[in-house]
Amino acid sequence: MITVVLGLQFGDEGKGKITDFLTSHYQVAVRFSGGNNAGHTVVVDGKKYKFRLISSGSLQSETVILGNGMVIEPFALLEEIDTLRESKGKAKIRISKMAHVVTPMHKFLDVKEEEVRGKLSLGTTAQGIGPTYEDKYARTGIRMADLLDPEIIRQKIETIYMMKQSLLADSEFADSKRREQIVRDLFEAGKKLEPYLEYTEVTLRRLYDSGKSIIFEGAQATMLDIDFGMYPFVTSSNAVAGAISTGAGFPFRKVDYVLGVAKAYMSKVGAGPFPTEMLGKEADDLRELAGEYGTATGRPRRVGWLDLPMLKYTTALNDVDGIALTRLDTLGDLDRIKVCTSYRRDGKELDYIPRSFKDMEGLDLVYTEFDSWGKIDHEIIKQDKYQALPQNLRNYISLIEKELGIPVDVLSLGEGRENTLIRDKSRLKDQY
Ligand code: IMP
Repeated sequence: MITVVLGLQFGDEGKGKITDFLTSHYQVAVRFSGGNNAGHTVVVDGKKYKFRLISSGSLQSETVILGNGMVIEPFALLEEIDTLRESKGKAKIRISKMAHVVTPMHKFLDVKEEEVRGKLSLGTTAQGIGPTYEDKYARTGIRMADLLDPEIIRQKIETIYMMKQSLLADSEFADSKRREQIVRDLFEAGKKLEPYLEYTEVTLRRLYDSGKSIIFEGAQATMLDIDFGMYPFVTSSNAVAGAISTGAGFPFRKVDYVLGVAKAYMSKVGAGPFPTEMLGKEADDLRELAGEYGTATGRPRRVGWLDLPMLKYTTALNDVDGIALTRLDTLGDLDRIKVCTSYRRDGKELDYIPRSFKDMEGLDLVYTEFDSWGKIDHEIIKQDKYQALPQNLRNYISLIEKELGIPVDVLSLGEGRENTLIRDKSRLKDQY
């Protein structure tokens, strides 16, 4: 079974929890895009595990792969490898030789570029993601395999410095001794990471041919995709399901099941259009209730109502087979629950979603309201008894399924693995 799990909104939908939950049925867990701008939280037996580079499937899979489409901060990765070994003992970790390397210079540039953007700043995670992808596409980037040769690292650091000199001139990086220190540090990290480096597309093919089940965990989300998101308020990589072909070298035609993860309300960190955003006290109350603060940055997240036109767009783009709906427990704590069912302008329904502030002008959002469903009995969840869930919750799910024409296969009703309800086990194919 080959599965892709990915976010259908602005990130932080709970992909980490869902990936961890499903991975007991998969031997291989793969990340194929982004870097430590991601922050996936998994709770097992009350203990929180935070993953930023390694897939959240790593606690349950035999092998974890960091694909070529990723941008990796080597020091952060070394720490995460240690954490994984502490929590799990043996873990087979394979890192693409072709993934790109984030250096301290890239992190500095991330902040500097935001300053230059001024009013157009997007509120990045300041992890050096954008500048590292810039270098990748400028063909000056440092790949993981380069870390094994100090001369190559030096050449590339110097080239990047020359190309970005206008932004780096007054910084610590203008000092050649500081740049030389980066070369030494990266080479040291490279020596430690060497045993894990491979052409992982070859590894993946071998694992596939030997019959292993593979789960691909998306990072960020479709509305943050560099092409299909709310550009320029997006990340610098493709976050759609098809990115497994370019980001892991795995043929998309082999995928059996695409699981799109959506939060039952929505959240967003950073700037940009957010049509169903809540404002004022309503937003503050939900943010506090739900603890909506960024895993990677600690920033307060913007929050809003579920947006079905947006989900229509993102499920179509990713050819989603099933939906995992998360934080239904949190939403059930509200007195009144709203869902946006269409966007209208001049009385006419829009057949696309607006991608810019300008495009949002004069827009009317049509909402349907539901009464709260309150707390859910844990026995119902444990026994996967969908029909025993409160009617209000089932009505809410039915509306989503009717509007999208896609089943809600997984319901997440709390943090731990035990708070996950599988609607129909046969839908998740032979794994259940
Ligand atoms: P960058 O990926 O750090 O360049 O940030 C670009 C935009 O994507 C910003 O609005 C970030 O807040 C957002 N972003 C990046 N990664 C994540 C994530 O994992 N969850 C939520 N938002 C993210």
